[in-house]
Amino acid sequence: MNKKEQYAAWYRQSIENPSQFWEARAHDYLSCFQPWQKVCYWDYTTADIRWFEGAKLNVAYHCLDRHLQHDAQKIALIFERDEPGQSEHITYQTLYEKTCQLANALLQLGVRKGDRVCIYLPMIPEAVIAMLAVARIGAIHSVVFGGFSPQALHDRIKDADCKLVITANEGVRGGKVVPLKANVDQALEIPTSVTQVLVIQNTQTKVPMNVLRDLYYHEVVNHQPKHHEPVPLDAEDPLFILYTSGSTGKPKGVLHTQAGYLLYAAFTFDYVFDYQPQDIYWCTADVGWITGHTYLVYGPLSQGATVVLFEGTPQYPTPSRFWQVVEQHRVTTLYTAPTAIRALMGAGDQYVTAHDRSSLRVLGSVGEPINPEAWQWYYQVVGEKRCPILDTWWQTETGGILLAPFLGVAEQRPGCAGLPFFGVVPAIVDVAGNITPPDVAGDLILRQAWPGQMRTVFGDHKRFVQTYFRKHSGCYLSGDEAKQDQQGYVTVRGRADDVMNISGHRIGTAEVESALVAYHCVIEAAVVSMPDALSGEAMAAYVVLRADYIWESDLEKKLMQQVSAVIGKFAKPKKIYCVEVLPKTRSGKIMRRLLRKIANHELSDLGDVSTLANPESVTALIDALQKKNISSEA
Ligand code: WT7
Repeated sequence: MNKKEQYAAWYRQSIENPSQFWEARAHDYLSCFQPWQKVCYWDYTTADIRWFEGAKLNVAYHCLDRHLQHDAQKIALIFERDEPGQSEHITYQTLYEKTCQLANALLQLGVRKGDRVCIYLPMIPEAVIAMLAVARIGAIHSVVFGGFSPQALHDRIKDADCKLVITANEGVRGGKVVPLKANVDQALEIPTSVTQVLVIQNTQTKVPMNVLRDLYYHEVVNHQPKHHEPVPLDAEDPLFILYTSGSTGKPKGVLHTQAGYLLYAAFTFDYVFDYQPQDIYWCTADVGWITGHTYLVYGPLSQGATVVLFEGTPQYPTPSRFWQVVEQHRVTTLYTAPTAIRALMGAGDQYVTAHDRSSLRVLGSVGEPINPEAWQWYYQVVGEKRCPILDTWWQTETGGILLAPFLGVAEQRPGCAGLPFFGVVPAIVDVAGNITPPDVAGDLILRQAWPGQMRTVFGDHKRFVQTYFRKHSGCYLSGDEAKQDQQGYVTVRGRADDVMNISGHRIGTAEVESALVAYHCVIEAAVVSMPDALSGEAMAAYVVLRADYIWESDLEKKLMQQVSAVIGKFAKPKKIYCVEVLPKTRSGKIMRRLLRKIANHELSDLGDVSTLANPESVTALIDALQKKNISSEA
């Protein structure tokens, strides 16, 4: 059977007989301490999803102990520092020992199965070690991206009721210091359930320590035994919580569990990237996002792969940084985001061609639609037309890749995410739930469960049901708009809901709006997205000020700072417009479609505005914009 035939046969089996298909894959990929009794059960009405019930396993054991017999001296992590010329190789043996030491330390500190541990770290080996150690003892990690502000960190710690935080004195990214410990201090100013903070001394800088709460990581970890018996966990015990934005102001704690997630991470990593044991695999995503969880940590480590862990950014100290890392470590597989590709494309080909890229075999893309121009550059310049481009579509909620142009199976089509992975049944439907004709866009839904799917919104199962399973009953709603052609290829256009994708960062309009409204003089705010050549999408914010507000020239800057403080710098709008009133429908809804058109200067075709309660607001808005009384670049 060639690859195409195998794909077709497996795909059919995975849909017609999921139990049989996934049972076979679980035999290939999972080593359980105790076998499962039932392969799968799901009910999309109550959003009750369970895989491999009865099985006992340990994810950290999978990612470490299993490899010690034959591959103890194999490199697990190639750690590349922010500054060039400083890399460190960490074997599976060492990663195992360091993880066991931290697991022992966590137990000594009183962390128990089911407790939540917040990880707020830069891209350093301890981030991986922390995730694995928490998983090893059956606790639940909640990694918070280091770019989040103290307030965003506070909200996430509070929602998950974390007991302990693992952080570093500071991080370094692109030559800039990230004051992680200071952020944690600020996040914990208003009391939470956190009783202890473990601080990694990552740079020379000394930071204030709270004697009642803070402990140096090396002081509690370094003397611990280098062995720890993995705890057998139930297949459906929680593994981690990861917050992601939705269309309401409050981020959702996406909860993933053990066996199904691990199997899906391992199998998709192996199949999609055509993993070979000698590969040097580099995923540039931060561990603070799902790509970092599934394709930097759990997928590759479960397969015993050698993974590059990069602390820095694509353009520091020069736009050659990525290609220099590729050359130096002989990277075979590169998995990165369109926003990085576009930025590097803008810097010029000479930065790429100055470095030997002959080791590259596969190039992946994730996080947002890749525009055909960036696709072509990635394919032609970076990969010298030798390496296929894997445009992978998935979400925090899906746990792993659902759509991709599988090697040897699908055609290479710029901008098209390709075909469904095994067990994945996509459909494109209109508002009424009818499947659209080929090439007609609609809601991208999934009609069958797959093992890597999220299980609930932490602490709010009702929200899980309502967000994902209500609009089209019996199906999972992705929130994306897509179309599918006659051969089944899916092209994802972007979000269909009030979620933006700015440089691959998922941000809810409502989150930014509530950050703006929390500023003393703002009474109302509406945020819309605009296309942007570099960041894919950019944000425009409209704010209505209190009537008694006295104009200050630096208001815009203050509002930008407000968003940085509440969410993080990456969530800053590109433009802020102050307006007297927002256009609203008679039912009181802000007409975002109109605001989007105005922000994009599409004034000649504003569409149907007959449902507006205040049609005069439109002229006022256009006037305000054209007078440019407020607008300017961030
Ligand atoms: C949203 C999920 C997937 C892990 C990283 C982001 C968009 C993601 C693609 C792609 C078009 C994509 C979607 C999706 N997206 N990959 N290949 N083509 N759009 O995870 O933060 O949960 O964001 O990112 O809109 O819904 P996330």
